[in-house]
Amino acid sequence: MSRDEVLVTCADAALTFGRGTRAVVAVHGANLEIGSGDRLAVVGPSGSGKSSLLHLLAGLEQATSGTVRRATFLGPYDIGLVFQGESLIPALNVVENTA
Ligand SMILES: Nc1ncnc2c1ncn2[C@@H]1O[C@H](COP(=O)(O)OP(=O)(O)O)[C@@H](O)[C@H]1O
Ligand SMILES: [Mg+2]
Repeated sequence: MSRDEVLVTCADAALTFGRGTRAVVAVHGANLEIGSGDRLAVVGPSGSGKSSLLHLLAGLEQATSGTVRRATFLGPYDIGLVFQGESLIPALNVVENTA
């Protein structure tokens, strides 16, 4: 895989939970491009939509509007997600938990 290969592209991606007066816009207008070898940190206060954005990138949620495109050569096991909380093993470090 060459360094500049684009893996995931978000164009105006939005994710809204619920409808009407109960609608919660978790992600709005996300625009980003992730290339092979990139390391990104998504930072923001609790509830600002970090997990929702990661779910969009991983394909666990469908964008309510806009697009999230993953490179066609990516297979189902090429995107991994480590969930926070109970899924982490305290005795292991970050790399070990991720593995
Ligand atoms: N499944 C869901 N149903 C309804 N609202 C949700 C759901 N998941 C997240 N939200 C809401 O979306 C917003 C962003 O949440 P989240 O992506 O978990 O933020 P973060 O990971 O930055 O703490 C919050 O207001 C949260 O309550
Ligand atoms: Mg979160």
